[in-house]
Amino acid sequence: MPQSLFSLAEDIRRCTACPLWKGRILPVPGEGFADAPIMVIGEAPGEQEDREGLPFVGRGGQFFMDLLESINVKRSDLFITNSVKCRPPKNRTPTMKECGECNDLWLQKQITLLNPKLIILVGGVAVRTCLGKGSVGKLHGTVITKEGRKYFVMYHPAAALRFPTIRKIMEKDLVTLKKVVGEI
Ligand code: URA
Repeated sequence: MPQSLFSLAEDIRRCTACPLWKGRILPVPGEGFADAPIMVIGEAPGEQEDREGLPFVGRGGQFFMDLLESINVKRSDLFITNSVKCRPPKNRTPTMKECGECNDLWLQKQITLLNPKLIILVGGVAVRTCLGKGSVGKLHGTVITKEGRKYFVMYHPAAALRFPTIRKIMEKDLVTLKKVVGEI
């Protein structure tokens, strides 16, 4: 039987491949329907995500989901996950080594199984994990096609919550995202 996103999540919950597992309360494999047309890939679980085992449920995550709701994209339209599945100590940025290992072991399999029409990359870590290079500063608000997959790049919600100028840019990018979603 081919592996499902559900059974893959079970494997992720048992993962001890890199040291991040030692600091986690709960691993956060991802959440969503197997036929979701849109995938959201963020950076890493934060404190609340680590407690609940669910992605994008903390302050930043909620803020991002509210932004998507404002363009009529609902949590139920999405499969949401992160570049790494375990919370880094003190919410530090995951290293590219950690992201690379987690990508090879889990994220690429999730993308293949879901086969989404669009992948929203949230923040620089997700951009570098999935595209290999590039900065959000240059790529935000644009669609990038790589190896047959369509990506839309957005700033990380933590940056928008901290800097009003980034928030304004994000609101503008949402207008573009609404158009892109309407075309998939
Ligand atoms: N919540 C997450 O799970 N990941 C992010 O990147 C931001 C908020």
